[in-house]
Formats: sequence, structure tokens, C-alpha cells
Amino acid sequence: MSATRSTGFRSEVNGADSIQECHTTKNFQPAVYVKQYYEYLGDENRAILEFLWRQFQSCPESADMLDFGCGPTIYQFIAAAPKVRTIHVADSLVTNFEAIQDWMAAKPDVFSWREYIRETLVLEDPSAVSCADIREREQLIKQKITRFLHCNLGASPPIAEVAEASYDVLMTNYCLEFLPAHIDFEAGMAQVLSLLRSGGRFILQFLRRTPDYPVGDHRFLCRRIDEDDFLRILPKCGFASPTIEYQIVEAEDGLNRPYESFVMMAASKA
Ligand SMILES: C[S@@+](CC[C@H](N)C(=O)[O-])C[C@H]1O[C@@H](n2cnc3c(N)ncnc32)[C@H](O)[C@@H]1O
Repeated sequence: MSATRSTGFRSEVNGADSIQECHTTKNFQPAVYVKQYYEYLGDENRAILEFLWRQFQSCPESADMLDFGCGPTIYQFIAAAPKVRTIHVADSLVTNFEAIQDWMAAKPDVFSWREYIRETLVLEDPSAVSCADIREREQLIKQKITRFLHCNLGASPPIAEVAEASYDVLMTNYCLEFLPAHIDFEAGMAQVLSLLRSGGRFILQFLRRTPDYPVGDHRFLCRRIDEDDFLRILPKCGFASPTIEYQIVEAEDGLNRPYESFVMMAASKA
């Protein structure tokens, strides 16, 4: 079977002979993904929380934020919630929305992000963090998430019901590397970046030079991108070079991660 174009992940199942278009809701398992990459709060995830905390130190109070390719996670909203006015989440998979909604509804057996919340609260204020503080932050995140939007990386526009320049903060974590292979990378990024208003902040994380991303039994094929791709593209899309900052994080020893490193990056749109 040959690889076909997809608006979602492409996955390689059962070895190299059977690359197939992934029926995304069937093959991407939100709970498996969360367990595989977030169950352990080690150095990698701590570095991510610290990066996000730093990014939201200087965020304007009335900011509207979009998370493009939100997945089934909420760690990315912990530092954002007290700073932004609203959070819109976008993904191609309804099952990811359901995972977030199940967490918002405090359904039994959902993944608890409390360790991640505690870690972020300690960054905000190293004095004692209580259970009540953690519950309060959970409630705040739930209040700030106001819209679930279907997005399609590579489409024009990437979110049908959202106009260009709608957001003050555009976040996207471990999603842009899944731009379908037939779409020019720069053109695909320009579409996503157009959602950000002038003066807005772009916050990004991606796997560095990684060919695929295993989740459970599936390997989701990625574009092999690195920081140089964004250092080239961002100035062309209106981001001044001096505003671009990035950090490369090496995969933690002993975790058997399928990547050698990942990149955390941020830039401001002129
Ligand atoms: C590896 S997960 C990242 C989830 C989350 N942002 C995180 O930080 O863990 C990649 C996400 O990108 C989404 N995605 C993949 N291809 C996409 C596409 N073509 N359009 C929109 N979203 C896509 C997937 O549904 C998934 O939620």
C-alpha cells in the first residue's frame, strides 16, 4: 500500500511495507499518548513547564490565545490561564477535544495534571503550594477554555471559522512537524502564523530532525525540521529576528525517547 495524502497524521503500521493513511480518530489514542509522554514528569517536561512559565511572565492581561494542535493535554494552559482572557483550542481530532472535556468535567480515570500544576505554581511562587491552590488553577484553566475549533494544518485557512489576525498568543506544540509532505513547509507555516495579530507572541515546540513520532503501536511520520527552518521563515512572516528565542532540549537519558532533542521557541510579530 502506498502513502496517500492526509489532512491528519500519516502512520506507518506493522513495519515499512504498510504505510497507510491514518484514520486519525482510530489510530491516535489520546490516553496512550498522554501516558507515554506525560505520565513521567522528568527533566524534559520540567523544562517545558519552565519555558511556558517564562513566556507568560510578560503576557498582556486581555490576550486571546489559540493552541493549534492542542492534542489531549492541558499542561500548556497552566502558566497561561492567569494571564490570558480566553483560550481557544484547535485540533483535527474530536477525540482530543473529548479528552480535554473529560478532564474539565473531572470524569473518573482521566489523567491528573496536578503534578504539572504544582510544578508551575512553585515556579510562580516558591512558597508552599496547597491542594486548594492546585484546584483553583484547575478551575481557572477550565474557565478560560471557551472554544473547541476544528483545524487542518496545511489547509487555507487552517481554521475555517477563524479570520486572520484573531489572536494575541498563538501556541503550537508538537504539531507543525506533521504538515503533510506535499505542502511546502514555508507556505504551511505562513497559513498558521497568519492567525496571530500584529504585536502578538508565537510560542512553539517541535521535535528536532525527527522522522516519526511513535504513539502506542503507531508511528506518526513527521517533517524533519529544526530551528533553522523557523529562523528563516519567521522573519519572512513578520517576526523581527531579535525577538526570536529558542532552546534545544536533549532527550532525557533512560527514557528511550524516539527523538534526540526537541526545540522550544518563541517570537513576537511586528
Ligand atoms: C504529538 S500531538 C501534540 C499534542 C499536544 N499539543 C502536546 O503538546 O502534547 C500532535 C497533535 O497534532 C494534531 N495534528 C496532526 N496532524 C494535524 C493536522 N494535519 N491538522 C491539525 N492537527 C493535526 C494531532 O491531532 C495531535 O493532537
